[in-house]
Amino acid sequence: MLGSAAGGGFPQWNCGCANCRGVRDGTLSARARTQESLAVSSDGQSWFLLNASPEIRAQIESFPPLHPGAPRHSPIAGLLITNGDLDHCLGLLSLRESQPLAIYATERVRRGFTEGNALYATLERFPGQATWHTLSPGRAALEPPLADGRPSGLTVEAIAVPGQPPLHLRGRVEPSADDNVGFEIRDRRTGGTLVYLSGVAAPTPALRQALGRADCVFFDGTFWASDELIALGLGERRAEDMAHWPIGGPEGSLATLGRIGRGRRIFIHINNTNPILREDSPERAAVTAAGWEVAHDGLELEI
Ligand code: MLT
Ligand code: MN
Ligand code: ZN
Repeated sequence: MLGSAAGGGFPQWNCGCANCRGVRDGTLSARARTQESLAVSSDGQSWFLLNASPEIRAQIESFPPLHPGAPRHSPIAGLLITNGDLDHCLGLLSLRESQPLAIYATERVRRGFTEGNALYATLERFPGQATWHTLSPGRAALEPPLADGRPSGLTVEAIAVPGQPPLHLRGRVEPSADDNVGFEIRDRRTGGTLVYLSGVAAPTPALRQALGRADCVFFDGTFWASDELIALGLGERRAEDMAHWPIGGPEGSLATLGRIGRGRRIFIHINNTNPILREDSPERAAVTAAGWEVAHDGLELEI
């Protein structure tokens, strides 16, 4: 887990809420977190990044298996993007140092990032600098190859997940079912399966089925409460207005999903206001008692 926080990170640069103040001054039992991204690998040599956070450079440096093995080289074989939100895409522009990039996303997310975006030219300076591969929910699993063309040993299926267009495109594009996806990733060698759903506006039957098959679930843990930002005086939108299903309450994801899946269940994309960040909070205790974990940067696991 390279980064486990929602957009803005924890603490957030312009936030003086109790959580952000407490983690800055060391009075809170909580760890700082960077914006959400996961590195996955079958062989431990070549890696795929799930989402490209604005903090990608520091995240790569934080995890030695992602360091180059030659003067111009990267063990990163590809990047898989769940949606067009800048906390998931902006890092692509930071990978502009003439390294060929393989990017996997829906056609919708590709267009949202590349069209009308003058900055994108930095990834189009030579043929083959950025190669996009289309993910479509409902289509058979694909196996993204390694940079040298060998099979990666990982298969990827995109899962349709209710979401929204990114904030900067709202009102400029019609919402589409392809605005937001999750991933089901299987290791051919071990058969282990992870399901990665970092933004979930609401549950669907397909989503529940995928979760039921998973050996490890990574799930949208942005907000504890629907009115979290409103109650703190930090915003006017409810969690659902931002396409995030809250964790807490009788209708929340914790009560609704329970012990879904066959293995670990881990909340990711955690907003800095969320009380589960405080290791001694009742909300954190409720998550733990229900058999769920709260991701932190640097978490490593084998499936
Ligand atoms: C979200 O998860 O709701 C988005 O990251 C919001 C944003 O783009 O700032
Ligand atoms: Mn986000
Ligand atoms: Zn804050």
